[in-house]
Amino acid sequence: MTEALSVGMLAEPAPLGPARTAEPRNRPRVLFVTHTGTMSGAELVLRDAVAPWAGSTAFLFEDGAFAGILRGLGLEIRLARPGAGLSGLRRDASVLRALPKLGRLAGLALDIARAARTCDVVYANSQKAFLLSALPARLVGRPIIWHLHDILDGAHFGRAQRIVQARLANLCATRVVVPSRAAADAFIRAGGRASRVSVVPNGLDLDVDPRSPAALRAELGLPAGPLIGVFSRLAPWKGQDVVIEALARLPGLRCIVVGAALFGEDAYAAQLHALAAAHGVADRVLFLGQRSDVPRLMQAVDAVVHPSVDPEPFGRTLVEAMLAGIPVIATDTGAAAEILDGGAVGTLVPPRRPDRLAAALAVLLDDPDAVAARTRLARDRALTLYGADRMRDALTQLILDAAARP
Ligand code: UDP
Ligand code: GLC
Repeated sequence: MTEALSVGMLAEPAPLGPARTAEPRNRPRVLFVTHTGTMSGAELVLRDAVAPWAGSTAFLFEDGAFAGILRGLGLEIRLARPGAGLSGLRRDASVLRALPKLGRLAGLALDIARAARTCDVVYANSQKAFLLSALPARLVGRPIIWHLHDILDGAHFGRAQRIVQARLANLCATRVVVPSRAAADAFIRAGGRASRVSVVPNGLDLDVDPRSPAALRAELGLPAGPLIGVFSRLAPWKGQDVVIEALARLPGLRCIVVGAALFGEDAYAAQLHALAAAHGVADRVLFLGQRSDVPRLMQAVDAVVHPSVDPEPFGRTLVEAMLAGIPVIATDTGAAAEILDGGAVGTLVPPRRPDRLAAALAVLLDDPDAVAARTRLARDRALTLYGADRMRDALTQLILDAAARP
């Protein structure tokens, strides 16, 4: 029997409006569980989703910027005991590598169970958070929602891991929320139940403060002339190296690389600098590090490249570029095709192909007017489908539904 996938949020755009707040009097208490104190896309999504849940609790495996932000949004913060975090453990680590940590993980699971007892619904905002919260939540009889921000496929996870995660979700999760059909399909292919899945596309702040590209370039110390940008944390699967290779084929083109190695990928960051030097393009690649003004910086460039080499579960930066009204070139893997409407509002190129990327860039930069209409369509699409209010409403409803289950 095939099970229906809940994709209502994609099919029927909800009206934009103020965030739906649960009735304060009978509002359920939510335990938001998140494994990291560092802000990447998944944490930015949760930051924008928790507005209706002030007074609820966030359980973090480690302290950091995210704890401060959630506290500022009115959540009560509980931190795992020092040393209990999983930051040293790669998300695709084998069970054997986790073994020495088993004692600490059990302690962490017990702490989550205690926190869950004081709440009505558990909301795990990552793969690690779900693995640690699933059984504790069930143990204390609380429904658990898994917000799965990953693509459960062979590029990102081993086979055993995929099976364990899908089975655990089938056993424990009341709902599995994913940001794209690509992520939903991968979860189902891994053995996850389609009827548990809800696709809630990531939503972003739709207000972009228009900036003058010339002023921004002056601020960055960049001359006029063709300029592209990559706006992702530095990690091998994000594919910044492919852009550097493409740049070597396009004399006169400059590139800003925005983002840092947030999760220990320092060797890759060093490799990118070495690659730029080896190709003789170091003077044309400007590494700006981690910035808090990505939508602003995007307006300085002629095109945004999204070069992920493995399937991207969503890719907030794609939508940020669409909202900024900047042409996008993305690799056709994961969610990029659904966000760019099959290539109707942006250029899709195959992953790991610097030659194809260079060719697409040459076409786009040669005649920017030719893509102006498409870029306007991209902005309209982002305004319609990818607003933060819409995402927040959908997630709030799923939490209320989970809490209302007998
Ligand atoms: N980002 C940022 N500063 C940077 C680089 C990225 O604030 O220097 C933001 C970016 O604007 C986006 C998020 O980090 O909102 C990354 O989310 P995405 O879904 O693109 O990828 P992730 O890193 O979560 O895989
Ligand atoms: C993850 C994914 C990214 C997605 C983000 C928010 O970090 O890598 O594609 O946009 O979560 O869902």
